[in-house]
Amino acid sequence: MKEDLIRVLLVEDEEYDVSRTIKTIEPYAERIKILDIVSTGRQALNLISAKQYDVVILDYQISGGLYGEELIKKIKTLEKSLQIIVITKMTLNHTDLILANQILKSGAFWFGTKNPSDIEESIYQQTDFILAILNAFEKKKLEEEKDKLLNEKKDSQDKLDSNIQLMIDEKPLIGNSTGLNRVREQIKTYAATNTSVLITGESGTGKELVARNLHYKSDRKYEKIITLNCSAIPENLIESELFGYEKGAFTDAKSGKLGLFEQAHKGTIFLDEISELPLSSQSKLLRVLEAGEIDKIGRNKKYNVDVRVISATNKNLKELVIKREFREDLYYRLNILNINIPPLRERQDDIVELINFYTKFYCSDLNVKIPTYLKESLNFLKDYKWKGNIRELKNIVQRLIILKKDSIDLTTVKMTLDSNDDRNINVQPFFNINDESFSILKDAEREFRINYCEYARKISKNDTEAALKLGLPPSNFHRLCKEIGIK
Ligand SMILES: Nc1ncnc2c1ncn2[C@@H]1O[C@H](COP(=O)(O)OP(=O)(O)OP(=O)(O)O)[C@@H](O)[C@H]1O
Ligand SMILES: [Mg+2]
Repeated sequence: MKEDLIRVLLVEDEEYDVSRTIKTIEPYAERIKILDIVSTGRQALNLISAKQYDVVILDYQISGGLYGEELIKKIKTLEKSLQIIVITKMTLNHTDLILANQILKSGAFWFGTKNPSDIEESIYQQTDFILAILNAFEKKKLEEEKDKLLNEKKDSQDKLDSNIQLMIDEKPLIGNSTGLNRVREQIKTYAATNTSVLITGESGTGKELVARNLHYKSDRKYEKIITLNCSAIPENLIESELFGYEKGAFTDAKSGKLGLFEQAHKGTIFLDEISELPLSSQSKLLRVLEAGEIDKIGRNKKYNVDVRVISATNKNLKELVIKREFREDLYYRLNILNINIPPLRERQDDIVELINFYTKFYCSDLNVKIPTYLKESLNFLKDYKWKGNIRELKNIVQRLIILKKDSIDLTTVKMTLDSNDDRNINVQPFFNINDESFSILKDAEREFRINYCEYARKISKNDTEAALKLGLPPSNFHRLCKEIGIK
């Protein structure tokens, strides 16, 4: 492969030395080419900002006021990777070592002393001079390569960071009440640690959202957050979900299964509705938390994992401990740090902000005009009890928007709230369709599901019975209700 031509800028103000330099380089014309020759520092800087060079050969003392260390520094600021070889006069009044140090410290690659003036053929010891140019060129290439790698690394880091910011922005934590700001502070403090966090709060207060925030603000943000809803998985499957199993561990295990703990290695695992974790799995979980080791079904060897555990519950775990439904030791392990999210009715200041946020959100989703809320409506909503917290608020807002009114008055609000109050109304499983209420299929389906489930609940003693009537396992019914917002 043909080697790159080394592009040189010569900065020299004495004709005699220019010609000696040219003569020194001439035999190496195939490798080294003097592109330009200038006699002042200013001219050199102008050319360097306009053109590409690899090496500058610089006479130490030149006319024009800008020379020496000052010039070297300016060149390096303009083009960091450009290499400078300095040549000095023999008559210079310095001991060589001090001068050499000064020159190198200001950024030059090499320095050499000119031959006495009676040597016409070369500027200084030829092999040294040529070698210095070749080495300078190698150094330039290395520095460029290093910069490129650093930039690439920075670019991919920037991309990762902006993806994480997107994840946070996609589901922002809205509200500025004292209660929510305290939660924010806790997220910030706890994110910096590796400790287990238990998030408590009524249903719909944002426990999952807080867990996500905690993960994406922690050092583990580049790794996964894996969620397991302990209430949504049958008791007998929970351990294989969490810890996985080896191929052949039991008759059906044709291939091994990676447990959630392994999948979350170096990241975070979010155990939602932790109160529903069966007692037998509680002791296994405790062992993982204490030893960082998992027992994979069918494997004798222990497997080490590094996972941060965030758990959440809307139950009073302490009470479950007293009733011996939840292991006390596990409770203390999970609850090293606690974030308790206050219910929405205790942070009234957030209500209007949340209504505005979700109104805009759903309007843009459905591509409809943003309605205005009359003051009386907002006041009423601020005083409302919000038993289902933000999840309920989201549903109400969604319903109000589907009504497609320009301004939302108190009657409309009350109507929407009433129909949301699960068991107090005479629910019919089906609804009449006419021109006015005709909506897109997705909305109609959703409305049907809401009515149907509400009706099933109305005619049943409890949710288990309602689930049975619908032919669903209770955990699926529970999930469905949550999904359509009638939890
Ligand atoms: N402060 C908030 N700002 C914006 N949206 C929020 C806020 N808090 C909760 N939400 C939204 O409300 C809904 C319910 O929140 P989330 O699922 O986190 O509640 P939860 O406490 O986990 O409820 P559950 O106990 O029923 O599981 C989600 O859509 C969530 O994005
Ligand atoms: Mg939740």
